[in-house]
Amino acid sequence: MCGIVGYVGREDCVDILVDGLQKLEYRGYDSAGIAVIQNNQIVVKKTKGRLSDLTEKMKEEGRPKGFCGIGHTRWATHGEPSDINSHPHGNKRISIVHNGIIENYREIKEFLIAQGYGFESETDTETVAKLLDYYYEGDPVQTIINVIKEVRGAYALGIVFRDFPDKVFAVRKDSPLIVGTSENGNFIASDVPAILKYTRDYYLLEQNEIATLSADGVKFCDMYKNEIKKEIQTADWDLDAAEKGGYEHFMLKEINEQPTAIRTTISPRIVDGMPYLEESGMTKEMLKNYRRIFIVACGTAMHAGLVGKYVIEKMARVEVTVDIASEFRYRDPLIQKEDLVILISQSGETADTLAALKLAKERGATTMSVVNVKGSSIARESDIVVYTHAGPEISVASTKAYAVQLSIMYLLAFELAYAKGVISEEECRRLTKELENIPEKIEEILVLKERCQFIASRLVSSESLLYIGRGLDYALSMEGSLKLKEISYIHSESYAAGELKHGTISLITEDMPVIAVATQSDLFEKTLSNIKEVKARGAKVTMICREGTEDDKSVANHLVVLPNMDDVMMPMLALVPMQYIAYYTAVLKGCDVDKPRNLAKSVTVE
Ligand code: M6R
Repeated sequence: MCGIVGYVGREDCVDILVDGLQKLEYRGYDSAGIAVIQNNQIVVKKTKGRLSDLTEKMKEEGRPKGFCGIGHTRWATHGEPSDINSHPHGNKRISIVHNGIIENYREIKEFLIAQGYGFESETDTETVAKLLDYYYEGDPVQTIINVIKEVRGAYALGIVFRDFPDKVFAVRKDSPLIVGTSENGNFIASDVPAILKYTRDYYLLEQNEIATLSADGVKFCDMYKNEIKKEIQTADWDLDAAEKGGYEHFMLKEINEQPTAIRTTISPRIVDGMPYLEESGMTKEMLKNYRRIFIVACGTAMHAGLVGKYVIEKMARVEVTVDIASEFRYRDPLIQKEDLVILISQSGETADTLAALKLAKERGATTMSVVNVKGSSIARESDIVVYTHAGPEISVASTKAYAVQLSIMYLLAFELAYAKGVISEEECRRLTKELENIPEKIEEILVLKERCQFIASRLVSSESLLYIGRGLDYALSMEGSLKLKEISYIHSESYAAGELKHGTISLITEDMPVIAVATQSDLFEKTLSNIKEVKARGAKVTMICREGTEDDKSVANHLVVLPNMDDVMMPMLALVPMQYIAYYTAVLKGCDVDKPRNLAKSVTVE
């Protein structure tokens, strides 16, 4: 989604804006622009395309120079990617950048047209820029207040006024924005990585708080102009975490960071060999008394929830329903106050997940979020937060965030199973120890990359493939399939292996490779039969299985053999070859691995 950066201070702002926007590239974008105050005039440079196109344009047309400015990477919603639709928008006296969607922009536009305003772009943002101009009578904060009283929807806005050449203004509602602070100047940004090069200190802007930034400080006020004192936050991510560090792509780096990310996430939650989630506020007593558990999330995070469902139901014998957030929010779900609703989100800003959280709260359920980004909207709004500690995940394709989300699902399942008396303390300790062994086992699997690279070379010319599995393997293979399609653009579906015969097997030919995940010992024989069925119909099969089950080599064309662990833990190992296969297939196809087409890292609009 769109990325916002702003700076006012003692340094030339253009480099800072472009550098910050580069750090936000991972969010996905199709155009970029900046507005800089130069000699008391607003100078705007913007273009469709990449930041390199913007830099090129500035070389040709002249690079603005100034100490105060705003910048933007746009992910098109209203109007195609074009120079005109790119941000900033405004006129000679006001310029704005915006992330979010203004729902009532048509009404506002009609009103403004009746007042004599003309419009150039198809964007909702331009209506906000013109509405600011309409209300502007010399007091920027009052102007912003008047405007936010009228607009409906989600917004994070960075604003500069020609009459206030040494100030940046900002406000947000339902779209993320932070305010960074340093001795050399102050910043606004959609996310922490944009400012890490300059400072780790930042403020979280709450709903409809207005920030006024100058070179020497930041002031905050509410919609009644009451001053607000805010607590400074310190990012625990360092700059290296947001750099490639010698890897060809962020995705590859992040796959390799999984052992560390899991260790950092689970170690504070294991006390004396037992799972311990109480530091989040979720006591064992509370946990065992919920009537039902709902897990709500999108994409990869939802897939983590699916594995969570299998593990929690199997271990703790508690009913778990997994919902896609965009469905949950409109399906009038039967949630009650005795229920626990778990929201999983890497970014903590996904609009549908946030809306699902609000709905669950309205209905009186306890909400618990599993979130990677500290202070994000979902974290702030939920009753209980369990932070994952994956560090910044830059690649659009989620890998390490998924691994740490799974590790929290396991801890939760073990704790709940123990609290309910379904497993003994001894068993709980044993399982927790197994979880602690996972990072080491993943390190062993990471060396299988050449094997996966070879398998990728066999898949690269396919148009379509199937992932199959049963039970936990099925839940896991959904993530394998998503990973492959989102970065390599090869169509892929995941099927419950036992369901193939009911229709989908008709698609099997020698041009339809199959990846079978077969790590569950109790289901192995069954999955094997399904593998034989597809193989007999010409499919080239890759089997991801565990040591000791690979003896009949003829069953598959390619094998990836994983170390042995408890059945229930196997998804934590099998995720690695799936990620590698997707990664190397995309690399071999020459795809833009970290920034796949049409996708945004953080989906802050519906
Ligand atoms: O930030 P979130 O975890 O809420 O994001 C949810 C999905 O958009 C995300 O997991 C998406 O599916 C991944 N980019 C897929 O790799």
